[in-house]
Amino acid sequence: MEDFLASQLEYYRQRAAEYDQWFLRQGRYDRGDEWNRRWFSEVDEARTHLVELGSVDHCLELACGTGLWTERLARQCKKLTAIDGASEMLKICRARLGETGLDLSQIQFVEDDLFEWEPSHEAHDLVFMSFWLSHVPPVRLDEFLQKVYATLKPGGRVFILDSRRSPQSTADDHVLPSEYESSAVRKLNDGREYTILKLFYDPNTLRELLNEAGFASQVRVTNNFFITAVGKKP
Ligand SMILES: C[S@@+](CC[C@H](N)C(=O)[O-])C[C@H]1O[C@@H](n2cnc3c(N)ncnc32)[C@H](O)[C@@H]1O
Repeated sequence: MEDFLASQLEYYRQRAAEYDQWFLRQGRYDRGDEWNRRWFSEVDEARTHLVELGSVDHCLELACGTGLWTERLARQCKKLTAIDGASEMLKICRARLGETGLDLSQIQFVEDDLFEWEPSHEAHDLVFMSFWLSHVPPVRLDEFLQKVYATLKPGGRVFILDSRRSPQSTADDHVLPSEYESSAVRKLNDGREYTILKLFYDPNTLRELLNEAGFASQVRVTNNFFITAVGKKP
């Protein structure tokens, strides 16, 4: 398991420079005008779910990557801590935020392994994670959600954004694993291959997981690509 998780992180380190092509529907991720239009429309819908949370004092973003959602969070939160395990990702994230003109003194970038991460007790009003929960192995899930719960203040919320199972979400040369598989083979632009964990949660399962972890939750899906969940700590 440790080797597998290290290799999963290594995949993202190596992918950092080309990561945004997935989100921007470029190169191998360009699925044609109609699917691309649906993608961006559903991104907007998911973003609306986040905006609905309103302004927040202190937010913690887990696995921020290149910062595709960090900028949105930075506009919504007075103080933001963004964690990722890959320095390559954090470098791009910091540069992206630097270009926005936002006050970076309120944003902290932290390199940490989320499987070793020690949460600060009741320190945050919001924990945000996009496309991260799907990479957390089921055997580590309870522990991970307990940490998320612990770091939230009473009344604080966790916001989860992740992928629905959709062939058009990934690159045109990736094989979507069957419903019964949890690992996926991912290729980089240069052809190197890595096996990673990718779980597709259905709304009921995600709701139950959050409820079992102590949250009162609301889960929504967009038509094809995304699932969002808000869990509130009592
Ligand atoms: C699918 S990306 C999501 C990035 C970003 N949240 C987004 O929405 O684009 C997964 C992120 O998890 C990070 N990651 C992978 N393993 C990690 C670990 N063990 N600890 C911390 N971050 C990790 C990767 O570096 C990558 O940035």
